Amino acid sequence: MSKRGFLQKNWHQTDAERARQSLSKWYASHARDLPWRLTPSLYGTWLSEIMLQQTRVDTGIPKWYLFLDLFPTVDDLAQASEADVMKAWEGLGYYRRARMLHKAAKVVAARGAFPESREDWLALPGVGPYTSAAIASIGLGEAVAAVDGNVQRVMSRWGGVTEPVDGKVGAQAIQEVADAWLDHDRPGDHNQAVMELGALVCSPKQPRCADCPVRSTCASADTPEMWSVLPHKTPKRKAARWDLTWHVAHHGNQVVAVQRPDTGVWATLWAFPEHAPTGSASPSLTLMPEVVHVLTHKRIHARMEGTSMPSAQSLHAWAQEVNGVVMTWEECEAKAWPRLATKVWPELKAACMGRN
Ligand code: ADE
Repeated sequence: MSKRGFLQKNWHQTDAERARQSLSKWYASHARDLPWRLTPSLYGTWLSEIMLQQTRVDTGIPKWYLFLDLFPTVDDLAQASEADVMKAWEGLGYYRRARMLHKAAKVVAARGAFPESREDWLALPGVGPYTSAAIASIGLGEAVAAVDGNVQRVMSRWGGVTEPVDGKVGAQAIQEVADAWLDHDRPGDHNQAVMELGALVCSPKQPRCADCPVRSTCASADTPEMWSVLPHKTPKRKAARWDLTWHVAHHGNQVVAVQRPDTGVWATLWAFPEHAPTGSASPSLTLMPEVVHVLTHKRIHARMEGTSMPSAQSLHAWAQEVNGVVMTWEECEAKAWPRLATKVWPELKAACMGRN
């Protein structure tokens, strides 16, 4: 910020117009054949935008196909059980997105129609300023700029916005650049072109300035002192350490699993109890080396302990004590578990089965 307390704008509308034109030409020959672009629909666009909020495009594509296979229409999604939706979401993380999507599908299905404006999309659960702008521009042709983390990166570098993009002044400056760039005739293609530029050229670590269509008007082109520090973000608090131990009580092909509460970390997903069975015949044994797994606000140091229960009866008694369920490994696999579980699953299963 300047000494007088406002941000110095160092670009002109004509620069933005030049950038828009160059970007549009570039996109015509560089757009990826992403599946939601090939046969556009509001439902498919919505799904893709929710999935891509915190997920890489490569990971999102197979999940997008799977979702449309399982729930081809918004009515199918609305009628599905929450367990089935969560299972289909497995691997994408941030399960709150799936829960909100499901809730929103019920609202849309009950109304019998998709929202018809950005403002109405914004009113749905799980649809924020970025997602509503992306859907309305791509699916409805509404002239609104969609600004997510990738777009912030492109805009802050191009406009030389050095204010934190998560603060009021910086966010306003980014929005101003995005609005100046916007192609009012083809807003959906335009927003996707900016995303594509962020993904393919203006990458976080090593932007390919030599290949950039907006290089001639960019404040950071070929200037590592600029692009390496932009977008400027307020430093985050360090993720808190969470020492977690999962106790896998097992007998034969069965284990005790618990469903997590409706709120908090991993809400409604399945997990193992966090304390050892009482009164079991054999002591608990470490099943595998400690695993470090990082969530947004937590750094989990996970230990996996196994207890071979002496009988099916003792397994059921323990399940009752922890409000859990006795299931075979295969039955567990049909439920939705956190990524930590799916990551260690084969090793965990083999270690327990080897001890029967
Ligand atoms: N990220 C979020 N939405 C996207 C889209 N429509 N195309 C490419 N990347 C995206």
